[in-house]
Amino acid sequence: MIRLGVNVDHIATLRQLRGGSTPYPDLLFYVKESVRAGADQITIHLREDRRHIQLNDLKLLAKNCPVNLNLEMAASSEMLKLAKKYKPTWCCFVPEKRQELTTEGGLDVLRNEKKIKLYAEKLQSFGIEISLFIEPNLEQIRSSYRVGADAIELHTGKWVLLKGRRKQLEWRRLVEAAKLGHKLGMRVHAGHGLDLMHTQKIKFLPFLREVNIGHFLICDSLKDGLFASVQRMKKTLTTRKS
Ligand code: PXP
Repeated sequence: MIRLGVNVDHIATLRQLRGGSTPYPDLLFYVKESVRAGADQITIHLREDRRHIQLNDLKLLAKNCPVNLNLEMAASSEMLKLAKKYKPTWCCFVPEKRQELTTEGGLDVLRNEKKIKLYAEKLQSFGIEISLFIEPNLEQIRSSYRVGADAIELHTGKWVLLKGRRKQLEWRRLVEAAKLGHKLGMRVHAGHGLDLMHTQKIKFLPFLREVNIGHFLICDSLKDGLFASVQRMKKTLTTRKS
C-alpha cells in the first residue's frame, strides 16, 4: 500500500495572503477533512521566510494531527531546535532558496554530508525518522545512505513537466533511483507536482511506499471540496489498474 501524505501548505498560503489576520481557512479543519478522506499523513513545510506555514501551525499540528506529521525543513540550526521540540513523526530535509516559487531541485546531500549526517543523527536520537528530498541521482542516493537516512523522497517535479522522450528518460532515472534506494535499505517516497494523471503512473514506481501531494489537491478542491479531492487521489493511488 502506498501511503498518501497531504501537504497542506497552500491552505496556509491563502490565510497568509491577508497576513494571517483572518481566522479562516481553519488549517486543523482541513487536516481532519484530509484524514477523513483517507490521508495517511499530513505534510507541512515551515520555511525560513514563513510564507505559508507558521510556527503556531506546527505547534497546533504537533499536538492535534490525527496521523503522522511530516515536517519538511531546511537543514538549519533553527529548524533542528524546532523539530526537537515539537517532534514530528518524520523530518524531510529540503533545500530552500528565498526567491524560489516552490522547492526547486533536490537537496545536495553529497556536498553537505557532514552537516546532514549530524542533524539526521540528532533527530533520530529523538525518535524522529529522516527522509531526504533529492533528485533521482545515484550519487545523491549513495550519499543519503551514508548519512543514515531512513527514506529518500524522489523529486518528481522535473518528470511531471517534461514531455516525450525526455520524460521517458526521467522516468527511467526515477526507476533506477528507486531501485538503488531500496537496495540500500531506505524507504522510497516521491513527491512534487503530482496530479491525478501523474499519480496514476507514479504508483508503478518500484518499491514506492509514500507520496506527498499538495498544490494539485488544494487547486482541485476548488471544484468540490478537499474531502472529494483527497478521496479521488487516494482511490487513484490504491487502485492497481491504470
Ligand atoms: N515533497 C516535498 C519535499 C516538497 O517540498 C513539496 C512541495 O512543498 C511536495 C512534496 C509537494 O509538492 P506539490 O505541492 O507540488 O504537490
